Amino acid sequence: MRKLAAGNWKMNGLAANLAEIETLVAEHGDAACDVLICPPATLLAPMAATAAGKIELGGQDCHAKTSGAHTGDISAAMLKDAGATSVILGHSERRADHGESDADVAAKSLAAYEAGLIAVICIGETEAERDAGTTLDVTGTQLAGSVPDTATAANTVIAYEPVWAIGTGRTPTLEQIAEVHDFMRDTLAKRFGEEAKGMRLLYGGSVKPSNATEIFAVSNVDGALVGGASLKAADFGAIISAL
Ligand code: 13P
Repeated sequence: MRKLAAGNWKMNGLAANLAEIETLVAEHGDAACDVLICPPATLLAPMAATAAGKIELGGQDCHAKTSGAHTGDISAAMLKDAGATSVILGHSERRADHGESDADVAAKSLAAYEAGLIAVICIGETEAERDAGTTLDVTGTQLAGSVPDTATAANTVIAYEPVWAIGTGRTPTLEQIAEVHDFMRDTLAKRFGEEAKGMRLLYGGSVKPSNATEIFAVSNVDGALVGGASLKAADFGAIISAL
């Protein structure tokens, strides 16, 4: 399976930051793994002109409907039209800020498939849930509810992002990452059979150049979803090289 280094720029990035993509294309355009950057929607089209097929681009959310009276929202087809191949769905920041439920994420994933986009579906427990010992219950419920029955290895990537590890500089132990990733693979295999073997499982949450190599060596970790460290080509480039 080809590994995936995915960068989530969140609500960061202006036209001046397109230079980071030029550097990434120049230095990692032929990387041994797939490279995906999910910028704010305003930068998708200008980035597509620079990425020139060397780096894949994605959105950070889409609406479940294809078009219509939904002011401020963006459809999967619009993302595709602007040059995206993928879309992050169900990020914990969207679940928290916009009250997105597992059912919402599943509906958005279906819209992504319909438009020909890969859905990068995010799950992960809060610190309180981990402390209560419910991490596998929580992530299992999220997996069951957020991933549609029509998910395949080609149209779906799952990202495990413990909420308490996002932007905090704290990461789970390698054993904790392995436990959840092995659990996700087993859970997906029970539902999707052989197809589950090819579904890429990303770890996300405070991934940086200094911890990428050890995290990528963990069982069933097929890449990373990187926030802060994806904003600078030098940092993200080092993570790409570690894959
Ligand atoms: P950080 O890498 O900044 O912790 O963010 C992770 C994340 O939320 C990626 O989607």
